[in-house]
Amino acid sequence: MSRTFIMIKPDAVRNRHAGEIIARIEKEGFKILGMKYVKLAENDAKEFYKVHAARPFYGELCRDMSAGPIVVAALERENAVLHWREVIGATDPKEAAPGTIRAMYAESKGANSVHGSDSDENANSEITFFFKGFELV
Ligand code: RTP
Ligand code: MG
Repeated sequence: MSRTFIMIKPDAVRNRHAGEIIARIEKEGFKILGMKYVKLAENDAKEFYKVHAARPFYGELCRDMSAGPIVVAALERENAVLHWREVIGATDPKEAAPGTIRAMYAESKGANSVHGSDSDENANSEITFFFKGFELV
């Protein structure tokens, strides 16, 4: 078993897809270790995405991610990181495979509905960013 960290981004919450995305999490066999509904300040988004600080889209990304409420969750499954990334599809919804969450719900490459950790190491640090030990069941 391994863990991943996921977010349902502001565009998906605004477009009322959070429930369907949570249903998909369950259908894909993930165990929900922790989940909460929060709104980031722009500085929180800057801290969370600091690995992207030098990228041209960093400012827009941090503004978008703090523009409205999000759902954050720590999930457990076999091959959690890889499996969730398969379920969400490519970063740009135009390149995302049919049936993936981004193909189904994303508005654009920036407003792409969901986040998923890209490694076990980053999953653990992202889970720690949002959850205290006692918040993980
Ligand atoms: P994520 O971290 O959110 O799961 O997405 P990812 O791994 O598929 O993509 P990544 O390269 O880590 O980029 C992080 C987020 O930045 C936004 N982005 N916008 N406008 C653009 O060219 C652009 N490129 C990336 C997306 O919201 C992406 O998910
Ligand atoms: Mg990423």
